[in-house]
Amino acid sequence: MRNYLGKLILALILAIVLAWQLLPSAALAIDVAEDIRTVQLNAEGDTYVLSNEQLEQGKLVFVDTCSQCHLGGRTKTNPNVTLSLRDLRGAEPSRDNLLAMADYLQQPTTYDGELDLSELHPNTMRADLYPEMRNLTVDDLKAVSGYILAQPKLRSTWGLGKAYD
Ligand code: HEC
Repeated sequence: MRNYLGKLILALILAIVLAWQLLPSAALAIDVAEDIRTVQLNAEGDTYVLSNEQLEQGKLVFVDTCSQCHLGGRTKTNPNVTLSLRDLRGAEPSRDNLLAMADYLQQPTTYDGELDLSELHPNTMRADLYPEMRNLTVDDLKAVSGYILAQPKLRSTWGLGKAYD
């Protein structure tokens, strides 16, 4: 009987050690290849490799504060200005890179770059109008921008019409 108990305790200890080692990878919901996490950093064409943690953080921000208008990369009230790379690239200035998109989330402008949209699009400069943006740091803005830029590599229908869902 004592022998049996000893084995049981040993097995328990082993199970705990094993679970402990597996824990870090299990806790991280996103684990994608480096080429998917590589996005354009700036207009000069430099690239940036997001960490899996940044991608995860970006997803949380997107689901919390963007997806009610930008589900699947579309734009609810303006279907012509989506979050597809093509539309982002066509904006003035182009928003198809991490820093330009993070900038948009601080000071949004119209697609042609002519007018200020800070009273119409969520941004951190007017956190008085957009309380949901108040707690977002510049790192959060970079993470959500990176998440958006990585999506076309994960979903070929990103930014396309509802029929593609
Ligand atoms: C209340 C709805 C709403 C929410 C919430 C919202 N957006 Fe938007 N977004 C829009 C609309 C509408 C446009 C198109 C603006 C225009 O007419 O130029 C837009 C445009 C954009 C653009 C420019 C797209 C392009 O092709 O140039 C980016 C980038 C963007 N949103 C990112 C975000 C992110 C990131 C979040 C979350 C932090 C967010 N938006 C939250 C409605 C929203």
